[in-house]
Amino acid sequence: MPIVTYILRDDSRREIDIPIGTSVMEAAIQHNVRGIDAECGGCLSCATCHVYVDDASSATLAPAEAEELDMLDGVADERRPESRLSCQIVVTPDTAGLVVRIPSRQG
Ligand code: FES
Repeated sequence: MPIVTYILRDDSRREIDIPIGTSVMEAAIQHNVRGIDAECGGCLSCATCHVYVDDASSATLAPAEAEELDMLDGVADERRPESRLSCQIVVTPDTAGLVVRIPSRQG
């Protein structure tokens, strides 16, 4: 299974083996990764699953679709070019080595 690294607010790291087809948000909730709230459960209506994708990882991801880009306008922390909603990042063989940073605030 591909490994995804979550960089937490205190700069510690959690490396998690994630089954293909699982979202980065779902895996975070299942493994109690602090800082991804995911209040809507992945329905693309809360923006509390915001993450910053490491530059080196971004090329492995499909670009955000229009609905995700709209929701990113509502994130609690700073929106940056590398901002994504983790419920919309689905793990594939290509995303092995993905690194995401948890923002300091979600809601
Ligand atoms: Fe609500 Fe991602 S979990 S938008």
